[in-house]
Order: sequence, then structure tokens, then C-alpha cells
Amino acid sequence: MAKRIDGKLISAQVKDECREKVKKENLEVTLAVIQVGNDPASTVYVGNKKKACEYIGIRSLAYELPEETTEKQLLELVEKLNQDDTVNGILVQLPLPSHIDEDKVIETISPKKDVDGFHPQSVGALSIGQPGFVSCTPAGIIQLLKRSGVEMDGKECVIVGRSNIVGKPMALLMLRENATVTICHSHTANLKEVTKRADILIVAIGKPKFITREYVKEGAVVIDVGIHRNENNKLCGDVDFEDVEPIASAITPVPGGVGPMTIAMLMNNCVEAK
Ligand code: GUN
Repeated sequence: MAKRIDGKLISAQVKDECREKVKKENLEVTLAVIQVGNDPASTVYVGNKKKACEYIGIRSLAYELPEETTEKQLLELVEKLNQDDTVNGILVQLPLPSHIDEDKVIETISPKKDVDGFHPQSVGALSIGQPGFVSCTPAGIIQLLKRSGVEMDGKECVIVGRSNIVGKPMALLMLRENATVTICHSHTANLKEVTKRADILIVAIGKPKFITREYVKEGAVVIDVGIHRNENNKLCGDVDFEDVEPIASAITPVPGGVGPMTIAMLMNNCVEAK
């Protein structure tokens, strides 16, 4: 039976450390959160980010803009926040309405305030080992592994998914930890053969319960980034938890695994932005 990696507990530890630092060093940190339109999932995420800020002692500025906001208006707001010395972090909630170019918006955020770690300069810095903000979900996975005592040095790590937000930065972070890294995706031939090599298998493919035990080596550590609602409205991940748990050595549940880490690492980035 696998050990469960408890993201709720570990995210609480990270948040408490941030809170202590803010208190001890009397930090005045401000995060500007911009939401365009009212996508219900985004509203929930933004609400959770605001709550986390309150808990840590970070001031949050909420910009709730209507769906019809133009790209020019949004870029002007980002520019204004870039110039505002009282604002330390800027977060534009994605996805944006289709008439706005997301890449252009991300590139307009000052890399000094890019607490999401999405700016090309932040990604470039990560790829060559320079300091910069790191995308929150992969940074959170590194914390889950470290704080659960999972050795990464010299291990085979297979990542399923190549997104800019999770798969690619995850690979760079695992390389930094001296793992041997493979990235798989929808065109990978013989996916099962590749994933079965993994000592650490990180799954971010966006397909409910896709990874069953045939994809997993006995004793592997399995990290599930997916989150979906099944036919009974119950949350599940990209990994078939019931099927895989008996053969893994450690596994993250959904919910309560990777999910809570994203906000915890965002808070950590905000404190670092000061
Ligand atoms: N939408 C879903 N996840 C995220 C995230 O981590 N950051 C931003 N800005 N938007 C998101």
C-alpha cells in the first residue's frame, strides 16, 4: 500500500512559513490579481488566492474586469501596475477571453512581478539555472517530493504532458535535482513502456483516470496533476488512484495532493517578490 503524499498538510506548512516570514520581517507585500470576465472556475481560483493572501498577511488588490475589456485596456492596467512601487506581484488569471492575446499580456508583466513564473524571461532563467520566478504547480511538486523524503538525484523521472505551465518547467526543475528526465506527450510511441521506466512518474495530461497500473512500475512514486469531475460529480485525477495505489510506493490523492500546493507556492513567490 502506497504512502499518501498529503498536499493539504505540506501546503499548510509552506503557507505557515510564509506567514511567519511576513510577520517576523514586517513585510508589506501586495499582490494584484486581475480577472477578465466571470468564468466560474476562475472565480473560485481567484477567491482562493485572495483568501490565502489574507491568511499570510499579504494585501491583495482585486481587479474584476468585464468580459468586453479590450486587450489595450488590459495592457494599460498591467503597465500601470508595473510602474506602481507599492505592488510586488501581478497575476492575470487565465484563460483570458479569446479576443485577448494571452502571450502578449504575459510578456507585458514585469519579470520582477511575475509571481506566476509565466514570462519568457522567467522561463529562460529557469532553463539556464538563473534566479527567477518558477511556475507554481511544478515548484509545488518539488516541495511535495522533498518534504516527503523522496530522493530525486539519479532517479528516472517521466513526465506525461508538455505544457508551458506544468510539463516543461517540471522537466527543468527535475533536471536541477539531478534526475534523469523524459517528457512524454500525445505523440509518444509505446507510452506504457516509457512510463514503466519511471521511479518518479508525474502525470499532467488532462484525461481522467488515464494512468492505470499497466503504466506504472512497482514501487514508483506517482504524482497526479489532473483534476476532473467524474460521472458522479466526484473529483478524480489523471491517475486511476484505486488501481495504481496498491503498486506505488507513494502517491498523491485528488483532491488534496498537488492542487493545494499551487496556491502555497504562489504565496511563496509573492513573499519572495518583496
Ligand atoms: N489558471 C489556471 N491556473 C492558473 C495559474 O496558476 N495562474 C494563472 N494566472 N491562471 C491560471
